[in-house]
Amino acid sequence: MTGPTKEVTVTVNGTEYDLEVEPRKLLVHAIREDLDLTGTHIGCDTGNCGACTVMVDGEPIKSCMMFAAQADGSEVLTVEGFEDLPEADGLHPLQEGFREEHGLQCGYCTPGMIVAGKSLLDENPDPDETEIREAISGNLCRCTGYQNIVRSIEYAADELAASQEQEAVADGGGEEPVTDGGGEEPVTDGGSEEPVTDGGGEEPVTDGGGEEPVTDGGSEESTVGDEPEGCGGDPDE
Ligand code: FES
Ligand code: FES
Repeated sequence: MTGPTKEVTVTVNGTEYDLEVEPRKLLVHAIREDLDLTGTHIGCDTGNCGACTVMVDGEPIKSCMMFAAQADGSEVLTVEGFEDLPEADGLHPLQEGFREEHGLQCGYCTPGMIVAGKSLLDENPDPDETEIREAISGNLCRCTGYQNIVRSIEYAADELAASQEQEAVADGGGEEPVTDGGGEEPVTDGGSEEPVTDGGGEEPVTDGGGEEPVTDGGSEESTVGDEPEGCGGDPDE
């Protein structure tokens, strides 16, 4: 038996959907049942476990605590959308981090952890361990003891920082001319008229104290966050 319904337009992972939902339908159920995006998990249905965490208009939301009708007009990001984000190279650095650092066992909490991790790194690109633990404190994991989840998010932070540094170098070494500390003159080799260069190579011009571009090699394909078995239980650090 169905009651009255409401038309809802929601953009999920960049695609706009028109849904007809009962007013009581939870966002997590609309995502999983109407859109068949089952990467978002249901662990408790009461706002305690964080398995259902998605981004709504850039904010992490436990989607079992929100009605689908409340998401009308919103942009939603689920774990399925991470591979299409600009910072992803195949996998998103967070997905890569969970693979590289063994940040999951059963994987039930993983989609929510990845979304929580993105929310943190969007706000704080270089978090310390305490800040990471605080950011995921609303997401429960019964398997890992959290240590490797923390490492996974640290891995992603390092990857994102490295790729941003590479992009800055690729942009031509920066738009600012190199100066001797704020003056209008370019740095020179001690008084000659020639600006200091490294001979036309690809390295950015520096005054001897610049930073090296960071590279750490490429990544490989894998999958993170497929449908695992259900979860429950308390976290245990
Ligand atoms: S299913 Fe939403 S917080 Fe647990
Ligand atoms: S890996 Fe976190 S609940 Fe199993």
